[in-house]
Amino acid sequence: MKTSINLKDFFNSLSTALDFTYSGLSGHHRRVAYMAVMLAKKLRLPDERIRTLYMSSIIHDIGAITMRERNLLAQLEIEDPFTHSEMGYRMVKNIQFLEPMSHIIKSHHDSWRGGNPSGLRGNEIPLESRIINAVDRLDVLLNKNAAYILEQSEEAISRLSVLAGRIIDPDIFAELSELASAESFWLDLDYQFLPDLLEKLLAGYDFYVKDDMLSDDLLFDVSSLFARVIDSKSVFTHKHSRLVAAVAAKLSLVSGLSQEDADKMLMAGLLHDLGKLSVPEEILEKPGKLSPEEFRIIKKHTYYTYRILDNIPGFDEINRWASFHHEKLDGSGYPFRLNGENIPTGSRIMAVSDVFSALTEDRPYRMGLPRQRVVEILGNMSPEGLDPQVVKNLVNNYDLFEALPKRLDPLTPE
Ligand SMILES: [Fe+2]
Ligand SMILES: [Fe+2]
Ligand SMILES: [Fe+2]
Repeated sequence: MKTSINLKDFFNSLSTALDFTYSGLSGHHRRVAYMAVMLAKKLRLPDERIRTLYMSSIIHDIGAITMRERNLLAQLEIEDPFTHSEMGYRMVKNIQFLEPMSHIIKSHHDSWRGGNPSGLRGNEIPLESRIINAVDRLDVLLNKNAAYILEQSEEAISRLSVLAGRIIDPDIFAELSELASAESFWLDLDYQFLPDLLEKLLAGYDFYVKDDMLSDDLLFDVSSLFARVIDSKSVFTHKHSRLVAAVAAKLSLVSGLSQEDADKMLMAGLLHDLGKLSVPEEILEKPGKLSPEEFRIIKKHTYYTYRILDNIPGFDEINRWASFHHEKLDGSGYPFRLNGENIPTGSRIMAVSDVFSALTEDRPYRMGLPRQRVVEILGNMSPEGLDPQVVKNLVNNYDLFEALPKRLDPLTPE
C-alpha cells in the first residue's frame, strides 16, 4: 500500500472512538495522554519511552469495550480494575511492534502496595504504568462539566493524596502535585485546546515508521485491533468488521480494482463501523424494531467514522470508502445524502460488502441467510440503493464469498 503514516495521528484519531460514553465524547484518553507526557517530561524519560508511553496512554482502556464497562471506570476506587487491563494487554501483545505497550497497559491499575494479578508491587510496576495510574485517577476526580476547573484543583489533589502510597506511587504523586500547582496545567485540560497542545508537546518526537512495508503491516494490525474492539461491542457482530473487510477486498478484485486498492479496501472495511462505538450497546442489541429516536442514534455512526478518519493525513480515500457505506445511489442514504456519481466505486463496493456480510452472518436470533435469499435481497436493494454492477460481480462469483466467513479465526484475542 506504500503509506507513510504518522503513528501519532493514527493512534490519536482512533482513540477518539474509545472516548464515546453515554453522554458523548469524554476526552478521557486524550487528557490522560497529555498529563502522562507532561509528567514523563518532568521526569526526563528518554524519547523512546515517552513515545511508547504516549501510545499506551492514548489507548490504555482499550480493553473496556462497552459503554457499561467504561462507565464503571469513572469511579475513584474501581471495584474490578484488572479485567479491562488484562483484556487490553491480550489485545495489544499480539502486535509485534506494540508489544512493549502491552505490559504498560496490563499494569495501569496495579496498586503501589501490591496484591495485583501481575504479582508486581512498588517500583517493580513499570514506571509508565505508575504514571498512567496516577493521572488516570486524577482525571476521574475532575468534574469535566464544570466551567471553573481551577476551583476543583485543590480538592482533586487532596483527594488523590489519599491514594498515594496505597494505590499510586507516592513519588509520582509528589511530582504530579508539583506540576498541578500551575494554573496552566488545569486550563490545558480543556478539550478545545488539547489536540493542539498535544501536537506541540510531541512535536520533537518522530512517530514515523521508516520501513514502508512495516508501516503497512502496522496500520493493518492496529486497524484489526480496532476492528476487534468494534466487533466485541455486541454479540451480534462478533466478526462483522473483519468479514466486511475480507469481502470488500475480494469484491474489489473481481470488480477490476488493483491489488493496491484492494489492500486499501481491506483497511477501510476493518474501520467502516468505527463510529458504532458511539452507539450504546443497548441499542445495537435491541431485539425488536428500533424507535425513530434509536434509529437517529444509529445513523450517527457513519458520520463519526468519517470525522475520526478525517483526522488521519493520507487516509482520504480509505475514509470515503469506509464512511459512505450507508449512502444510496438515489440519494436517500445517510449521513451525507450523496447520490449517483458522487459515491465512489470503493464506497459502492463497501455498501454491498456490508449488506452481504450482515445477511450471511449468524446472529443470536437467526442463522445466516441462504444464498437464494441473499441474492434476492441484494437484487431488491438495487439499483436505487446498491450499485447493480457491483451486486452482479458478487452474485456471479458467489462461491468465492460464501467461503469467507468460515476462514475467520474466532474473536478471542489469544
Ligand atoms: Fe483503566
Ligand atoms: Fe454501518
Ligand atoms: Fe457494517
